[in-house]
Amino acid sequence: MDAFRISGGFPLSGEVRVNGAKNAALPQMAASLLTDRPVTLHEAPRLSDLDNMARLLGELGVETRWSDASTDQANRGGTLHLCAIDETKSHARYDIVRTMRASICVLGPLLARRGEARVSMPGGCVIGDRPIDLHLRGLRALGAEITLDAGDIVARAPKTATGERRLRGARVFMGGAFGSTVLGTANLMSAATLARGETVIECAACEPEIADLAALLKTMGARITGAGAPRIIIEGVDSLTGVDHTVIPDRIEAGTLLAAIGATNGDAVLRNCPYDAMAGQIDRFEEAGLQVELSGPAPDMLRASVRVRRRTGAITPARITTQPHPGFPTDVQAQAMAMLALGKGISVVTEKIFPERFLHVAELSRMGASLFRQGPTVVVNGVDHLVGAPVMASDIRASAGLVVAGLAAKGETTVRRVYHLDRGYESLERCLRAMGARIERIRGEAVVDDLAEPAARAATMVGDAIKSEHVGAGAI
Ligand code: UD1
Repeated sequence: MDAFRISGGFPLSGEVRVNGAKNAALPQMAASLLTDRPVTLHEAPRLSDLDNMARLLGELGVETRWSDASTDQANRGGTLHLCAIDETKSHARYDIVRTMRASICVLGPLLARRGEARVSMPGGCVIGDRPIDLHLRGLRALGAEITLDAGDIVARAPKTATGERRLRGARVFMGGAFGSTVLGTANLMSAATLARGETVIECAACEPEIADLAALLKTMGARITGAGAPRIIIEGVDSLTGVDHTVIPDRIEAGTLLAAIGATNGDAVLRNCPYDAMAGQIDRFEEAGLQVELSGPAPDMLRASVRVRRRTGAITPARITTQPHPGFPTDVQAQAMAMLALGKGISVVTEKIFPERFLHVAELSRMGASLFRQGPTVVVNGVDHLVGAPVMASDIRASAGLVVAGLAAKGETTVRRVYHLDRGYESLERCLRAMGARIERIRGEAVVDDLAEPAARAATMVGDAIKSEHVGAGAI
């Protein structure tokens, strides 16, 4: 298993380009199940999650192929070609689904186009319960008959008078105890494109990845209005065509870089930055003392150049509460907390999407952060400096928080198990090195043994969940 070795204390500077969004690309890949025509995704990030989705789609009869890796040093995104060549398969097996919860987004497209689906039920993960009741409620409202068999969700669309299996439009409320659901909305919106009649999704997720999925589906011939707002209306069509689409840039990667630049007292420019999708983040990062401003003209506010630095010398205390979009994203909570650990005063971070998502707290504390957690809230008492330490990655974003802390800390930090991070960031170390960070990847066995003991201790501190190896250790 690879690790990152970071020598902290070097301010980030220069210019880097933000990659395409993983969370946009995954449901877009699944949308290839809705047609037998080619689906081409440009600016798809080269990530293990996308490889896993490609493997799953391969088992479902979709041919996938990469081309055009970029020559940009710190950005190797490419073009992904998908085409469903065998539409007889509809079983998404546990072996793959357990590696990545986002596999659930094949359920809606399979059911809509093939009339039936068998998808392994995803389990919980390190950040807490991950129910899919809202996905199932939505699909049932479209007439699907859904049962559970041997750990699989077995779903069938209702039969029409002519005997074909086809979903039918309906009005569905998709809100739950924690608000809207992103992949639930993606599943239902995708499924409704081929249903008979009109579907209205109320309390739909408003995330930019949903709007980008709708843009792709509309180019395929779907009739969708309102995506990006809480009410989405879909008028079903008989079939969809192929599409050539460019994936939006990743607002979570951009937010991670914001935190890293702020934590290291850097001054850098992010190109291809989805500024327009980051209001909730920019508001809170500015509260914490950063200045985030457009750098030059921005004809496309989702692909802008943005300069980031501290407004004055210090990180100032801030209150951050994670919320559905356009609020502050849960996926940047750990990274922001790492930065606030260096604030001049007391910050408060409250997690309202995944109240258990605090695996980074114990590890940041090992680096000298002063954190006090009570339920879904962490009180962050800013310290003058963090101290490098061997730490253990647990999920994608918690790992990114540890990297942010390591970049700012005095001395050397080793972040082990960066395979978690690799699921969501394309060559993060190369991107950070391009901004002057001292970070290197240590391959597999080369990780020095003296790290094993403290890292194992850390694992005990953060609970049994992260002891499980690679797969099943928390997919988000
Ligand atoms: C997506 C993102 C993930 C992000 C999350 C919240 C992808 C691949 N993943 O995950 O990075 O952290 O949105 O922004 O896009 N819930 C239910 N019932 C359901 C579904 C969800 O109660 O059927 C709850 C969840 O437990 C959570 C909240 O709703 O508390 C939001 O989850 P959801 O938006 O569904 O997360 P994902 O779409 O899985």
